[in-house]
Amino acid sequence: MKKRKPPILETDRVTLILPGEDAAPRVLDYFIRNEPHHSFTLPDRPADFLTEAYWRKRLVDDRTDFENDASLRMFMFSRGIAGGTVIGDCGLTNFVRGTLQGCFLGYGIDHDHEGRGLAHEAVGAVIAYAFETLGFHRVMAGYLPTNERSGNLLRRLGFVVEGYARDYLYLNNGWRDHVLTALTNPNPKPPPAP
Ligand SMILES: CC(C)(COP(=O)(O)OP(=O)(O)OC[C@H]1O[C@@H](n2cnc3c(N)ncnc32)[C@H](O)[C@@H]1OP(=O)(O)O)[C@@H](O)C(=O)NCCC(=O)NCCS
Repeated sequence: MKKRKPPILETDRVTLILPGEDAAPRVLDYFIRNEPHHSFTLPDRPADFLTEAYWRKRLVDDRTDFENDASLRMFMFSRGIAGGTVIGDCGLTNFVRGTLQGCFLGYGIDHDHEGRGLAHEAVGAVIAYAFETLGFHRVMAGYLPTNERSGNLLRRLGFVVEGYARDYLYLNNGWRDHVLTALTNPNPKPPPAP
């Protein structure tokens, strides 16, 4: 089977790519810089998460996962400088095909780039790719009830609140409630024939 080519997504101000392992030091730097900013929303991570060796392997695995239709984990750069500083991440994970055609959305932006509409721009581009190119019907996202910025971002992208899940995810050493939201493809199509 032909290998699926990793996308390059461009908006007015942002470029998103699935970087190769050479980007490991810059991806690592992004997570180190944003450790306090992102930590309250993150699951337990492997002990070597903040090492270059981890990211060298992980970036290769992420590409394989994309080729295998399992996930798409992208990193954000200022437009046109995908060899530069990582300013955010946006991923689609847990691809489910068949009658659901759904996946889960996650994202984060560098604290110095927050409040400028960049996350909205980037996440919007990833969602358009999910619907138009990957053929998903439903993109799901959950957020902590206290995470107003995340809730605002999802609302402005058209996500609809579908429920409130108690003790939904184990984050930051505890089970955390989440607001569950989803967005469906504005041009729905039946799933491909099995
Ligand atoms: C969630 C997160 C990505 C939201 O980032 P953000 O920068 O607030 O999101 P947006 O890109 O939608 O930007 C919106 C803000 O930019 C402002 N803005 C400035 N210029 C803008 C423009 N050209 N277009 C749109 N908004 C603009 C908006 O007014 C808004 O500011 P306000 O919240 O002070 O009113 C960020 O807070 C984050 O990384 N948090 C930590 C990780 C996290 O929570 N991840 C999600 C887990 S569910």
